[in-house]
Amino acid sequence: MGVYSRIAGTGSALPEKVLSNHDLEKLVDTSDEWIATRTGIRQRHVAAEGETTCDLAERAALAAMEAAGVQASGLDMIVLGTTTPDIIFPSTACLLQHRLGANGCAAFDVNAACSGFIYALSVADAFIRAGTARTVLVVGAETLTRMLDWSDRSTCVLFGDGAGAVVLKADTEAGVLSTHLHADGGKKELLYNPVGVSVGFKPGEENAGVRVLMTGNEVFKHAVKALDAVVDETLAANGLDKSAIDWLIPHQANLRIIEATAKRLQMSMDRVIVTVDRHGNTSAGSVPLALDEAVRSGRVQRGQLLLLEAFGGGFTWGSALIRY
Ligand code: UT7
Repeated sequence: MGVYSRIAGTGSALPEKVLSNHDLEKLVDTSDEWIATRTGIRQRHVAAEGETTCDLAERAALAAMEAAGVQASGLDMIVLGTTTPDIIFPSTACLLQHRLGANGCAAFDVNAACSGFIYALSVADAFIRAGTARTVLVVGAETLTRMLDWSDRSTCVLFGDGAGAVVLKADTEAGVLSTHLHADGGKKELLYNPVGVSVGFKPGEENAGVRVLMTGNEVFKHAVKALDAVVDETLAANGLDKSAIDWLIPHQANLRIIEATAKRLQMSMDRVIVTVDRHGNTSAGSVPLALDEAVRSGRVQRGQLLLLEAFGGGFTWGSALIRY
């Protein structure tokens, strides 16, 4: 009998502080109307001074572990998607492991920008299917507002902070049915943060390079195309028609991108989980945050078919089809 992974519990965490579009009107030349119309975002949560990616990851992880009935000692592995680690090393997964008291289990970060959670989930699923791990904590956690240029209206209005987590457990019944990962490193300059270790820091310049740079309208076009292709790929790989999907749980970058994917799937928006209005784009945090909200609100029920997808810097993109 095959071994599969199933979602045993979900959790999430948001910083307390909320920044509205009206607050941003005071920082840059923008308007609530522009942000809401172009992106669907109305507010985002911003980490307090001293509040880190690991702090948010810990809260999300504890909630997911409680929901799953899993103790830290029961974890075989922690895989954490982030592009905003607390420090360069050790990985945020290692910092989290120590906080949770799960010492000894494998722990590592995955950097796939906004696709970080889908990548981390795929890795965890593969370890479980291979029989190497039975219980894996998968986290997507970010404090992306830490690397924004708050004078650049083309990026600072888009992002927020947050974390989500799931506990995956080995099962004889399939939960994660398939995952599909892609990347195109040739599009680096359209969405990136040029600061680096190996390319050299630039001391002396204030905030040298510590910022997200994005050609938004180009990213938009690539995102819609890549997401269309990956949802088609996912359905084909499972021999399913669009109508089989109960819930679309998309990356929350832009409501217009989400609507385009929903249209491709001929899904009405009431079967799509939307949090972008309240969370903004939380990068690797966005999909597990949306999933946890959907589970805890009672919308997503056991046995339903969920399609998760994300697109982000790299470019990276991917999907996961899950029987919840
Ligand atoms: O999660 C990772 C993946 N990221 C994404 O998927 C993001 C994808 N891109 C987007 O979501 C959209 O492209 C944006 C929301 C970033 C931008 O929306 P857009 O409809 O593509 O606008 P645009 O970049 O073509 O800019 C249109 C206009 C420009 O002015 P002009 O040149 O037409 O005079 C911008 O300067 O809007 C201006 N603009 C703003 N105006 C008010 C750009 N940012 C702002 C702003 N407030 N915050």
